[in-house]
Amino acid sequence: MFFPVNVNEFEPLAQDKLLPEVYDFCRGGANDEITLAENRNAYDRIKLLPKVLTNRENQNLSIELFGQQLSSPIMIAPTGLPGIITSEGEKATARAAKAANIVMALSMMSNFSLEEVSQENHHSLWFQLYLCQDKYITESLVQRVKKASYTALIVTVDTIALGKRERDLRNQFNLDQNLQARSLLEYGLGEIFKKQEGSSIANHSKKVFKTAISWQDLEWLKEITDLPIIIKGILNPEDAALAIQHGVSGIIVSNHGGRQLDTTPATIDILPEIAATVEQKVKLFIDGGIRRGTDILKALALGADAVLIGRPILWGLAVGGEQGALKVINILQEELELAMTLCGFSSIAAVKKYGKELIYSNS
Ligand SMILES: Cc1cc2nc3c(=O)[nH]c(=O)nc-3n(C[C@H](O)[C@H](O)[C@H](O)COP(=O)(O)O)c2cc1C
Repeated sequence: MFFPVNVNEFEPLAQDKLLPEVYDFCRGGANDEITLAENRNAYDRIKLLPKVLTNRENQNLSIELFGQQLSSPIMIAPTGLPGIITSEGEKATARAAKAANIVMALSMMSNFSLEEVSQENHHSLWFQLYLCQDKYITESLVQRVKKASYTALIVTVDTIALGKRERDLRNQFNLDQNLQARSLLEYGLGEIFKKQEGSSIANHSKKVFKTAISWQDLEWLKEITDLPIIIKGILNPEDAALAIQHGVSGIIVSNHGGRQLDTTPATIDILPEIAATVEQKVKLFIDGGIRRGTDILKALALGADAVLIGRPILWGLAVGGEQGALKVINILQEELELAMTLCGFSSIAAVKKYGKELIYSNS
C-alpha cells in the first residue's frame, strides 16, 4: 500500500475519498485564489543558510504557551465543519492533539459541541470564537468554554463577511446532511445545510456573525473572561500594534488560508514586519501554506512562536481519521527536527534567538 512520506501526499489521497464539493470547500480560497497560492509559494522563495560544526545535540522541540508545556510549536488550526470529512470529525482531531501533546483550536463552527470535544482532550484545547450578532450568545459561549476546560480563546476577526469562494458558489455547496453546528444548537442556530439558494455556509454565517466589530468588542471580551485572548486574522502591522494596546495575549498572522480577501500578501512575507512591531510583547503565531518542517523553521526564524496547520490536518483526517491526523503532525515534527539539526539548532529558543541569520538574502 502507498503511504504518504510527506504532508503534500495526503491531499490526492484525501481527494479520492471525498465528494468533489467537499474537497473543493476545504481546498478552495477566495476569488482567483491568488493569496491561497502565494501563501505556499512565498515559503519556497525563502532560502535557508545553515551553519555547520555547531556541536549541538539533544534536539528539543518543546515550547511553553500560557503556562502550558507542549511538545512542539505546531498547532492545529480551527476548521469548521470537519464532520463533512469524517463522522468522528473534531473528536478524532482532539485525540490526535492529545496524543501529540500539541494545541488544537476548536472552531465555533464545529459539528460536535465544544463540551463533546472536550471529553476527548481535557488538556490542550483552545476555542476559536466568532463574535455573534447576539451578545448574549457570545457571552454564553465564552462561559461554556471556560467551564469545559479550554485554556485560551482565539477570536477570528477577518470574517465579518464570508469571502467569495467561487468553488462553493459553483457547487451550490448545500449538502443535505444532518450535520449541525452543535455548540450553537441551544441558541436555535445549529442548522446549516438547509436547501436554499447559494452557499448554505455563507447564508448561515450571515445569520450568526456580527458584521460591525471593533476594538471595543475585544475590550468587552477581556472584561467577561480571564482566558488569554488571541486575535486571529491580523495582516497589518498597525493592527498588531492596536491589538497589543487593547490587551491581547497573542496575535495570529493569518489571511484565513486565502479564503477571505484575495490578493493579500502571503502571511510569511508580512510576518517580519509584524514581529518587529510586536517585539515579543505578546505571543506571535502564523498560519497559511505551511506544509514542510522547513516552512515551520522559517516562520520561527522570522519571529513566530508557533504555527497553525489547517488543510493538511483535514487531509490526514480524510485519509486515516485520528491516526491520519496524527501522522500529519508527526511528519511535520520529524521534518522540523531534521531541518533544525541540519541548520545547527537544538532548541526552539535557539531558533528564535539566532534564526534571522538562517534566512539567506542575496540582495
Ligand atoms: C475547511 C476550512 C475551514 C475553516 N474554518 C475556519 C473556522 O471555522 N474558523 C477560523 O478561524 N478559521 C477557519 N479556517 C482557516 C484556518 O483556521 C487557517 O487559518 C487556514 O486553514 C490556514 O491555512 P492552511 O490551510 O494553508 O494551513 C478554515 C480553513 C479551512 C480550510
